[in-house]
Amino acid sequence: MSVNLSGRSFLKLLDLAPEEITSLIDLSAELKQLKREGTPHRYLEGKNIVLLFEKTSTRTRCSFEVAGHDLGMGVTYLAPESSQMGKKESIADTARVLGRMYDGIEYRGFSQQIVEELAAHAGVPVWNGLTDEFHPTQMIADMLTLRENFGDDLRGLKLVFMGDAENNVANSLMVVCAKLGLHFVACGPEERMPAAELVAVCEELAAASGGSVTLTSDVAAGCTGADVVYTDIWVSMGEPAELWEERIRMLSPYQVDDAVMDLASDDAIFMHCLPAFHDTGTTVGRDIAERFGITEMEVTDAVFEGPRSRVFDEAENRMHSIKAIMYATLKDPQ
Ligand code: CP
Ligand code: NVA
Repeated sequence: MSVNLSGRSFLKLLDLAPEEITSLIDLSAELKQLKREGTPHRYLEGKNIVLLFEKTSTRTRCSFEVAGHDLGMGVTYLAPESSQMGKKESIADTARVLGRMYDGIEYRGFSQQIVEELAAHAGVPVWNGLTDEFHPTQMIADMLTLRENFGDDLRGLKLVFMGDAENNVANSLMVVCAKLGLHFVACGPEERMPAAELVAVCEELAAASGGSVTLTSDVAAGCTGADVVYTDIWVSMGEPAELWEERIRMLSPYQVDDAVMDLASDDAIFMHCLPAFHDTGTTVGRDIAERFGITEMEVTDAVFEGPRSRVFDEAENRMHSIKAIMYATLKDPQ
């Protein structure tokens, strides 16, 4: 299959064929190499993009900005609450205005429906920089990180997501694993499992790719023999802070510690999209420590800082993969 993503939006991985996802991982690796050797790649000189953020960000925002500049583009950042969108101007009107000025639009915010609506009206590619449901740009970075550790063929690897398996990152991991033939395990409490409808879709995709989808609340069953142990924060952006108490109670048994990593295979790696609560070096971390007496949450500091952790490779790979997504969708059709 010849892959051409030119002019397409990047909203969720369910919209992409496995070959299209693979081509973006290939391109990310190529662009990473160019960056490493200092070879200029201002392939999109003269184009302009806008970054529309309704939630905060470090990695995603900086990745879009650096990648945009490396590709030769002008970049506008619109911070949360700083545009008219939603309050004084509808999503559709905002999309039509921005689409007249920019060649591409990044959106980070709340429901998936908003990014889909932007894309329906913008007339230019729209990229999902995280919604409540999905975080697809993160997946291209994560699959590149897996390739760097396990080789180009990712089929058959076992990836376990520990903790809040109902969140955007877990949903996206389940989709990408199902598309690319990995064995995905959601390991967490029954109350925080991915939606049944999405699980059913992924089971069908996994049947076609040679992968599998497993949901379990049993840590030993879930993590034994894992190649990758992945986790994420227990309360996501947009969720009320009142949830911390319940989530800590519900998710503490799924903290990634040395005992969990010992269940995994000998060359297993630890991954986290970041930001992570692994110590009390943050205001939220300190507040939680004071209120609940715990100094680490979804991952222990020992695992986060340990030799199996690949979290900063993942963070760097966000930039290379976002560059690939922008280049693939903005370049002229061949
Ligand atoms: N992983 C990730 O999306 O990080 P930011 O929230 O900092 O963008
Ligand atoms: N699940 C997290 C991911 C952050 C990158 C959140 O939505 O806050």
